[in-house]
Amino acid sequence: MLQFDVTHALPFLPANWLSSRLDGLTEARRLLEDGSGLGGEFTGWVDLPRSYDREEVQRVLQTARIIRRQSQALVVIGIGGSYLGARALLELLTSPNYNLLCGTSPQVFFTGNNLSSDALTELLDYLRDKDFSVNVVSKSGTTTEPAIAFLLFRQLLEEKYGREGARDRIFATTDREEGTLRALANQEGYATFSIPRDIGGRYSVLTPAGLLPLAVAGVDIRGILDGARSAMTALRRPGQENPAWQYAAARNALYAQGKNIELLAGYEPHLRAFGEWWKQLFGESEGKDGQGVFPASVEFTTDLHSMGQYIQEGARDLFETVVRFTVPQSSCLLDPHPEDPSGLGYLRGRDLRFVNEQARRGTALAHAAGGVPNLLLTAGERTPFWAGQLVYFFQYACGLSGYLSGVNPFNQPGVEAYKANMFALLGKPGWEARRQALLAGQTPKG
Ligand code: PA5
Repeated sequence: MLQFDVTHALPFLPANWLSSRLDGLTEARRLLEDGSGLGGEFTGWVDLPRSYDREEVQRVLQTARIIRRQSQALVVIGIGGSYLGARALLELLTSPNYNLLCGTSPQVFFTGNNLSSDALTELLDYLRDKDFSVNVVSKSGTTTEPAIAFLLFRQLLEEKYGREGARDRIFATTDREEGTLRALANQEGYATFSIPRDIGGRYSVLTPAGLLPLAVAGVDIRGILDGARSAMTALRRPGQENPAWQYAAARNALYAQGKNIELLAGYEPHLRAFGEWWKQLFGESEGKDGQGVFPASVEFTTDLHSMGQYIQEGARDLFETVVRFTVPQSSCLLDPHPEDPSGLGYLRGRDLRFVNEQARRGTALAHAAGGVPNLLLTAGERTPFWAGQLVYFFQYACGLSGYLSGVNPFNQPGVEAYKANMFALLGKPGWEARRQALLAGQTPKG
């Protein structure tokens, strides 16, 4: 099981940081278990690693085999929770350079997560002479960014393969019954996968939203689900030994001490996209009602040479959560020549892994001494099983943490504000009054 270590945060925490929150955590756990809290209709993810639809996962694997056979590339169209989880685990379990290293497996491109014509045109041009398939992912089926990207990539597929041929290359992941994408998929006869009604986007990586792209890349998705199930079994047990309880309590206590910003830090570039997924998970779940820890992410040691100064000596409202793996996947032995002028002779015989670990230890000590509490989460290997544990750990801790701070961890009302203004400015039917208000220089509420 994952190990959570609070040692380098203890000097910043009151002695009762955990004990004083046990009642709150007990209640938060009850709300997650029986779905009776705010947003309780979106707690389907709590039991998902046990109750997931085995047949659908089987179909995900079969479809992945088809895509792998017929395509040099898979285009995953989705935004927010409809792509971040897949991308996070793809980069964690393969490489941030997956598309260069994937060999005979299809390249995987994530698009539909912005409105940049340059970015979309670039990818459309690249794929023009490639065989590719599309997995369009949208729970609501109405989100503008993926809808526009789907329009463009569907047109390209139809140009290349005809309407019939395109149909065999389009896979839609959406609500089982509702939404524009579901209606379109039914009408066109696309193969579809479901995001369960009771699972919101940022908690959906263990549904086909995350699993299909991962399976196409050859990632062992059953291993991920096994890891999540093992974490679920451990973390749903109540008590102060529970690492998710400790994490939720520690960040809640640090926030109460004025530590408003949490940096998720890793010492592997493979964790970079995971940081993006984690930011959405915590940011959208907790950032509401005028409160919430602001989630940021850093990649060490890279960012020690850009953000390190601020972290060490800037405003003292930060804390850091480091994710670490203990078992390396590769060895890189250092063997400088005795007369090597590089000055690295003292590292002879050392593995780079050792150097990285000393950087981590030294940084934790320096940051804690500089006023930045350090939390540490340790996993074993960078494998599907451990990745599944990490996903479940953060989701469960986030649910606990949201309830502990009294917010609904499963809605995102604030996301609508920009959409409303964008629709009004674009002249979308139904948004005329808001358009008038904006053009008159008024600030519409909501
Ligand atoms: O967490 C969420 O619910 C959001 O980030 C959504 O995933 C995101 O807005 C995309 O929504 P949809 O899948 O409906 O297109």
